[in-house]
Amino acid sequence: MKNNGLYLFNYKILVLLLFTQNFTQAQNRQLAPTPPMGFMTWNYFADDITESDVRSIADAMIENGLVSLGYDHIFIDDGWQGGRDKRNNIIPDPEKFPSGIKALADYLHSKGMKLGIYSDAAQLTCGGYTASYGFEEQDAKTFADWGVDYLKYDYCGAPADQSTAIKRYKRMGKALQNSGRDIVFAVCEWGQREPWKWANNVGGHLWRTTYDIRDKWSANAPPGTDLHKEGIGYGILDILNINAELDEYAGPGNWNDPDMLIVGLNGKKGPSGDLGGTGCSMVEYQSQMSLWCLMAAPLMISNDIRNMDDDTRKILMNKDIIAIDQDPLGIQAKRIINNDNLQVFLKSLENNEYAIGILNTTKSNLSGQIKLLEIGLRGKFNFYNVWSKEEHKNQNVIKYDLESHETLVLRLTKRN
Ligand code: GLA
Repeated sequence: MKNNGLYLFNYKILVLLLFTQNFTQAQNRQLAPTPPMGFMTWNYFADDITESDVRSIADAMIENGLVSLGYDHIFIDDGWQGGRDKRNNIIPDPEKFPSGIKALADYLHSKGMKLGIYSDAAQLTCGGYTASYGFEEQDAKTFADWGVDYLKYDYCGAPADQSTAIKRYKRMGKALQNSGRDIVFAVCEWGQREPWKWANNVGGHLWRTTYDIRDKWSANAPPGTDLHKEGIGYGILDILNINAELDEYAGPGNWNDPDMLIVGLNGKKGPSGDLGGTGCSMVEYQSQMSLWCLMAAPLMISNDIRNMDDDTRKILMNKDIIAIDQDPLGIQAKRIINNDNLQVFLKSLENNEYAIGILNTTKSNLSGQIKLLEIGLRGKFNFYNVWSKEEHKNQNVIKYDLESHETLVLRLTKRN
């Protein structure tokens, strides 16, 4: 009898836990059903960000059509904070944000946009600004009062072990859930404590999987090198090789975040220019866009979108590649082939369609062909090249002819 009672007691707790977990997951799905999109301030402005910068970026995003393509957030990164007032409420820097964050959020909302903000699970942020540890409830309420829609929550200055990280993110995750406003929660501990395994249980909707991206193709380091320890910056390929393996963890409301798009930075100095970030070619930038979209990554533009050249515009504003990223099924591509020359990705899309990406990782041109059967697809499909816009009907073999570091992206349909 005693044992049965204990069993019943545990069973009730289990049901409650499962219910709470499912509830959190359902909420997650509603808040970030597809990967968040927008402009993040860090790579271009670093911590020198002001309210007039944010307004001018917002205006440009509306005018040049980025917002109507889905890039509807401005994510303010580190550097906005001005300490705490006498009641310990976190406040913006009065010189950089004289009208306050609420006025900015109101402005963005009036334009159909959303506002993201940044804090950290320690006393100070990575840039040395006031952070939220010990003030989670209070800061979450402040963010909610301001009308903030998204919080990037960093991990500089916090203990290294996984269980402390889980506790600290859980405190903020709960605080956001109790804040009275829907706020997307972006975990940013750089993939060091396997956040893909726990972040969604603490209220996270996305989690960085790597250290910061630099404006370069690859670190070119021997396999097994610890880039972070050696002080070598991560390039597009280094980040790809980490994030591509994590596809099973992604889905609606739960996204692997391989960091910002560096498309169009063109070797600009600043955070992305550190550690060898001297810039990429347009082919490489286009590959980043292709690969991030295949991996259902959040799309965070970080170049100066007020002054974009045509090539950059074409990459960031290609509707067909964005549609692959934003596909409602929310499935991250599987990397099916990864050899010395190429990587092949297969992403399932709604209506039994697929996206296929073929990346040439070599330093030379590469051509060849792949049978659909080799990557597990039976029958014939119509191919639509999302970059060249060429169509080929009823095919079962993909022919590729790629420049160094180029990615071919095809959308496969059975429609006539
Ligand atoms: C960390 C993050 C970056 C950025 C900076 C701000 O390095 O990983 O994305 O937010 O902090 O200080």
